[in-house]
Amino acid sequence: MDPVLLQKTLFALFLAIVTAIIVSKLRGKKFKLPPGPLPVPIFGNWLEVGDDLNHGNLAELAKKFGDIFLLRMGQRNLVVVSSPELAKEVLLTQGVEFGSRTRNVVFDIFTGKGQDMVFTVYGEHWRKIRRIMTVPFFTNKVVQQYRSNLIRAQTFARHAWEEEAARVVDDVKNNPEASTTGIVLRRRLQLMMYNNMYRIMFDRGFESEDDPLFNKLKALNGKRSRLAQSFEYNYGDFIPILRPFLRGYLKICKEVKERRLQLFKDYFIEERKKLARTKPPSNNELKCAIDHILDAQQKGEISEDNVLYIVENINVAAIETTLWSIEWAIAELVNHPEVQKKLRQELDMVLGKEHQITEPDTHKLPYLQAVIKETPRLRMAIPLLVPHMNLYDAKLGGYEIPAESKVLVNAWWLANNPAQWKNPEEFRPERFLEEESHVEPSGNDFRHYTIVLKPRA
Ligand code: HEM
Repeated sequence: MDPVLLQKTLFALFLAIVTAIIVSKLRGKKFKLPPGPLPVPIFGNWLEVGDDLNHGNLAELAKKFGDIFLLRMGQRNLVVVSSPELAKEVLLTQGVEFGSRTRNVVFDIFTGKGQDMVFTVYGEHWRKIRRIMTVPFFTNKVVQQYRSNLIRAQTFARHAWEEEAARVVDDVKNNPEASTTGIVLRRRLQLMMYNNMYRIMFDRGFESEDDPLFNKLKALNGKRSRLAQSFEYNYGDFIPILRPFLRGYLKICKEVKERRLQLFKDYFIEERKKLARTKPPSNNELKCAIDHILDAQQKGEISEDNVLYIVENINVAAIETTLWSIEWAIAELVNHPEVQKKLRQELDMVLGKEHQITEPDTHKLPYLQAVIKETPRLRMAIPLLVPHMNLYDAKLGGYEIPAESKVLVNAWWLANNPAQWKNPEEFRPERFLEEESHVEPSGNDFRHYTIVLKPRA
């Protein structure tokens, strides 16, 4: 490096550090902050803890600093919560105070600056959009309505989710490679999940893994997830003056976002609108989710953009999460033949051999339920949940949390802490029939919160 340039760079860095110290001293409101490693100016703890803030690394830090600790990542405060009591505070007791989400430049692009459900800040829109989404997505009625063709009106040609599962079993059985070289099950299960969710959303499905529209959707959804979840743009998020260097990255994000929303609009939303104009659903039972959401738009409750961002959210939140959970369940059953054998015995005994399982059957199968609880405990799809945020200064665990802190609940550690669970590293569904038999999917135990999906309205 040119010595003059080096001298100038070092001088600029020194000036920036001194300015940051003076500004923070002048502005600094005195908070009783949670414990944590000592931050250095500008970078905070970033250089020390690095980019990879995964659940395992954060659990190690919790052992050192306690159930609540603070990391300063550049200019951002990151509060990490690692006990069931504090998780309950964040997720339930102070659910409103901590009900917003941190946004950043990348999420702002994908969610139109919080025009969606997940990343909107707490307020009137937050409540309204959750209310609008409850009926089409988050009631037991939806589960029932889309479960079987035998129950659904016969006018629907497409398969409901029980039939969809049966088709997967048939396809695998009929594929000779399944018993010789082996097959990648994920591809077939992914088609099943897209079919399940696109049926709930648009009453649409895809014929095969080669369907070009299905492949386009899959590719764009995959790109969106990778771009949003990458650590590559952390520096621009943590240290705002570095944001100009993100220009190239943000350009790619914008392109992906635009192509994706256009696809949702052209192939699904507009199609459904056209269909509704020519053949309106005769009763509520025949309405799919987008019909309810478009009704809300027509009433002026939400905008056309809100509709698009709701579709964007469901594509990200519903499909891959469920797919990962199913894949892990299968993988654990393959790796634990004794569990598989017990499960088979229960199915044969309660339902009879070769019986296609239905949703009401699941209530008669306690061992199956235990397997379903044990899988996400050990193999959590979103181990840190979706980061929460307090809009205003708040109190948590006896500490003061400055406004707009990013609050992470380490749900994985809550469900895998040996102080709280017997041999948590073991895949042992029996625990939910023995010492943990009280844990219900209603979310009654914050050590194992992620087995329930509870939209807060
Ligand atoms: C096994 C499957 C699933 C898992 C593991 C899962 C996990 C999660 C987690 C951990 C959160 C964040 C909770 C929080 O931060 O408080 C969440 C939120 C959300 N999930 Fe799921 N989810 C699954 C399936 C679904 C499905 C099927 C849908 C849609 C029908 C869905 C829609 C949503 C939405 C909209 C949110 C945001 C809720 C809010 O901000 O209030 N998820 N999910």
